[in-house]
Amino acid sequence: MSAIVNSKENLVMYVCICHGVTDTQIEVAVDNGAHTMRQLNRELKIGSQCGKCCQCSKRVLNSKLMQIAEAEPSAA
Ligand code: FES
Repeated sequence: MSAIVNSKENLVMYVCICHGVTDTQIEVAVDNGAHTMRQLNRELKIGSQCGKCCQCSKRVLNSKLMQIAEAEPSAA
């Protein structure tokens, strides 16, 4: 009998099917400075073909930006 591993580290979600881009690739691009959809489009071609990935990409982008903001010490 095999166990189901339900760890986020082991899951990869394809966000952009047209260009084969995963959520992990988007997160890495955000870590490397792509902080807007336009920048993600330039880096990974997100949304440049059918455009169906734009909403999901934006959710991944915003989630990663929130993680980065929460990890940074507050400026106050
Ligand atoms: S799924 Fe991303 S451009 Fe088509």
